[in-house]
Amino acid sequence: IQQAAESLHVLNNFAQKFFTEQLLQTEEGQSHALTYLEERGYDEKIITHFQLGYNPQSRNAFATAALQNQFNKEVLLKSGLLVERNPASSAGREELFDNYRGRIIFPIHNNTGKIIGFGARVIGKADRAPKYINTPENEIYIKSKILYGSYFARHSIDKNNECLLVEGYTDVISLHQAGIDNVVASGGTSLTTDQLRIVKKYTNNLTIIYDGDAAGVKAAMRGLDMALEEGLNVKLVLIPDNEDPDSYVKKVGADAFKSFIAANKKDFILFQLDVLLKEAGDDITKKKEAVNQVAESLSKLNRAEDFTRRQAYIHECAAALKI
Ligand code: UTP
Ligand code: MN
Ligand code: MN
Ligand code: MN
Ligand code: MN
Repeated sequence: IQQAAESLHVLNNFAQKFFTEQLLQTEEGQSHALTYLEERGYDEKIITHFQLGYNPQSRNAFATAALQNQFNKEVLLKSGLLVERNPASSAGREELFDNYRGRIIFPIHNNTGKIIGFGARVIGKADRAPKYINTPENEIYIKSKILYGSYFARHSIDKNNECLLVEGYTDVISLHQAGIDNVVASGGTSLTTDQLRIVKKYTNNLTIIYDGDAAGVKAAMRGLDMALEEGLNVKLVLIPDNEDPDSYVKKVGADAFKSFIAANKKDFILFQLDVLLKEAGDDITKKKEAVNQVAESLSKLNRAEDFTRRQAYIHECAAALKI
């Protein structure tokens, strides 16, 4: 496993350099991909900081470079950078080709800065193809343990004693560019216990900033009990008007974004109570279920050091419920 991991690291490192060079130093990269990133408001400094890149449209631009550099086929396939054409249709000839053709490349770093995988985005609107393709699970890319941006955020998380958690790659990068850099992304998926444990290594204070759509609310509700069980102090902000943190910070600017977060940060338990009570309306049975669910969440706060916090929540919830 160690050896497989090491070969994957070496290959990913090589690939990142290749993709970045394609983005910044080729005509196709500049006119196609760099322009797109600049139109979205990313400057060259942030593009370089996050080591973004571009995989050319040709079937085998990266495949050719990788094979010339003696990377072996097994590692290349495992990395997800190349895929194999169905051997039956190529008359017995092996053929490897680029998996991320024509896409913007977002390298994903582990906590020590090593590249463990990539997210690859189509340029412009994603009509048919999936918008992002990500590295498949392998020895070093373990999806449930990845927090995108953690390498770039860890000092700031430490300094602020708070971790901001957003949904996507571009949210992390835009907030960084706006000077808010204690931020990581869960990669769109619902939170896992392993991800929360990584946060816990840096800070007890987690602020989740999700899109204010139904999916965002649902994801937030799912993460609550898990986060409480891990002993995290969780706050939540929903971004309004079908925006996400990336589009919202660009729309209103860094200062207004920060004020918005500060003013709208809601304690997670009280957020849950709000959502449940709104759903319940005047229905007594549903109201009772809401109380039970909140009590269930409060029961997760069972560590000795959580005692005071639990008491405070009980008071606040009782007041909100008028019981
Ligand atoms: P979003 O659909 O919100 O994309 O998915 P985004 O981050 O705002 O990206 P832009 O601004 O359109 O470029 C949130 C995250 O979910 C994962 C990615 O990690 C993405 O950043 N995702 C989304 C995928 O892995 N695959 C997809 O097809 C879509
Ligand atoms: Mn930075
Ligand atoms: Mn969303
Ligand atoms: Mn989004
Ligand atoms: Mn977005």
